[in-house]
Amino acid sequence: MSALPEGDEKRRAVQAMFDTIAPRYDLVNRVMTLRMDVGWRRRTVRDLGLRPGSLVVDLASGTGDLCHDLERAGLQPIAVDLSFGMLHHATTAAPRVQGDGLALPFADRSVDGVVCGFALRNFVALPPMLAELARVLRPGGRIALLDVSVPSNALLRAGHGVYFGRVVPLIGGLLSDGAAYRYLPRSVAYLPAPAELLGMVHEAGFTCVERAQLSTGISQLISATRDHERSSL
Ligand SMILES: C[S@@+](CC[C@H](N)C(=O)[O-])C[C@H]1O[C@@H](n2cnc3c(N)ncnc32)[C@H](O)[C@@H]1O
Repeated sequence: MSALPEGDEKRRAVQAMFDTIAPRYDLVNRVMTLRMDVGWRRRTVRDLGLRPGSLVVDLASGTGDLCHDLERAGLQPIAVDLSFGMLHHATTAAPRVQGDGLALPFADRSVDGVVCGFALRNFVALPPMLAELARVLRPGGRIALLDVSVPSNALLRAGHGVYFGRVVPLIGGLLSDGAAYRYLPRSVAYLPAPAELLGMVHEAGFTCVERAQLSTGISQLISATRDHERSSL
């Protein structure tokens, strides 16, 4: 099996892959998560805990599912994604910007919150992405980062391994692009272990860093608050 790409090669590969799978991305998501992704996104917006009217960046927005949930909660989303294909197939009326999470097109301390769904694995590096979130957020602003995870229970982990490693690529191959959905389970290897990931978030200038396991640990939600004390980072 070939090594996973890194650096610029990874960025180009990720962008091309999402451009390819964009037209059927939503359908495959619903089928392969048995619609559990819908509840996970709602929880993500709830854990932001921001007041109605707050400006929230949906980083790596894809087709904009989280934007819909943000709007339903009375928040003002702005979608940012690397892939023109995903933005083109977006179903949200929120403003959409093509951009890289490592260089966000927003001024320092200009937004109240950032959500990011199922994309942590896709960034070339996490510490600079988290530093970029800390830069654009006002002190006291909130982040809620949702991604896949691996259950800690051994039995559940084994079952999840079969489903994610075998069944998901099969579904993806039938409904969309087989190569992309074979890459999906492999890309979990990019995710740091929970303690390391929480340490990175704290290091980037966040406090109240919390991690929730969703649906027996097949997804994880990390939330945190932009630290007032370390606002010059
Ligand atoms: C698995 S999709 C998630 C889409 C959406 N957030 C959701 O919840 O369904 C990952 C998204 O991350 C985007 N992405 C990957 N790397 C990115 C980067 N460096 N900056 C911005 N978006 C990126 C991809 O284009 C893709 O749309």
